[in-house]
Amino acid sequence: MKALVTGGAGFIGSHIVDRLIEQGDEVIVYDNMSSGIEDFIKPHFENPKFKFVQADILDVGKLKTEMKGVDFVFHLAAHADVRSGFDDHKIDLEQNLIGTINVLEAMRENNVKKIAFASTSSVYGDATIIPTPEDYPFFPTSLYGAAKASAETYISVFCEYYDMTAYIFRFVSWVGERYTHGLVFDFLNKLKKDPTTLHILGDGTQKKSYLYVKDGVDAIFTVIEKAKEKINVYNLGNDEIINVTESAKVIVDEAGYKDVKFTYAGGDKGWIGDNKYVLLDTKKLQSLGWKASKTTREGLHVTTRYLLDHPEVIEKRNKK
Ligand SMILES: NC(=O)c1ccc[n+]([C@@H]2O[C@H](COP(=O)([O-])OP(=O)(O)OC[C@H]3O[C@@H](n4cnc5c(N)ncnc54)[C@H](O)[C@@H]3O)[C@@H](O)[C@H]2O)c1
Repeated sequence: MKALVTGGAGFIGSHIVDRLIEQGDEVIVYDNMSSGIEDFIKPHFENPKFKFVQADILDVGKLKTEMKGVDFVFHLAAHADVRSGFDDHKIDLEQNLIGTINVLEAMRENNVKKIAFASTSSVYGDATIIPTPEDYPFFPTSLYGAAKASAETYISVFCEYYDMTAYIFRFVSWVGERYTHGLVFDFLNKLKKDPTTLHILGDGTQKKSYLYVKDGVDAIFTVIEKAKEKINVYNLGNDEIINVTESAKVIVDEAGYKDVKFTYAGGDKGWIGDNKYVLLDTKKLQSLGWKASKTTREGLHVTTRYLLDHPEVIEKRNKK
């Protein structure tokens, strides 16, 4: 198989690239490097089955050129910072919806029939059914969630128009090796600046579950192998839920900081548009035989250790 991975130099995308290469597939990484890290894909540079294209998904002409002969698109490139949509109302539209439409256009022109799409639990917003199943309606509270939900609907229509098959994955937050943004990253950055105090957004009671990256990649490939619908929608998450104060304790503990005082911004959410309680129902995924190897807490420990052992990753990401 020849796969094109948009966002393949990012946290999750680079793990998907590793898996495809392990399977013996040909891989094109298509990434503009806005948040990607070259070190994550460098080990493949000498591999004749690997190609790196530094380009933007907003450049539809380039996408169409690079999509020639491709069998499967893994579409992960996105503006993944949920908070910034509050101040910039166009960024999610451009990067996450129009970017996706460009990917679909390039697929159509090159007769590529299969797409895996990185969607998000944010499409559900503040769900009233917890754990939230896949058939819960879209009620996003952020423009990021709105753009991802819209992208899902465009994918569904392209599947109908052009006989494509889609694998749509609604992720909770991922953690693990190569993690470059999110709670653990922010907390370690803050603790480095001031090891005595950790300022926490919200009141610390927000509850989240975190999925370990290798479990997430296993889940994606399990679904691709076993799911047989035209449009396959799966929640990807972890059953263990943990509040932000407890997460902070895990991170502080693993990092070895002592007597850290927690202060709180207040309010029941981290920011406007955040979701207070994120726990997805993963029965559909588990029915395919998938099981997480790490709990939420274990994932947070591994991530903290990884970032402490790789200060260069924090440094490179902070410079972006
Ligand atoms: N990390 C999570 O917890 C999480 C949760 C839910 C959904 N997602 C989704 O999963 C996908 C991957 O997330 P990630 O955590 O690996 O993020 P990431 O920022 O590490 O990776 C995104 C990659 O896309 C590239 N990119 C961004 N905009 C681009 C553009 N216009 N053209 C080409 N390349 C572009 C970046 O350089 C980066 O390498 C995203 O679609 C994100 O929305 C992630």
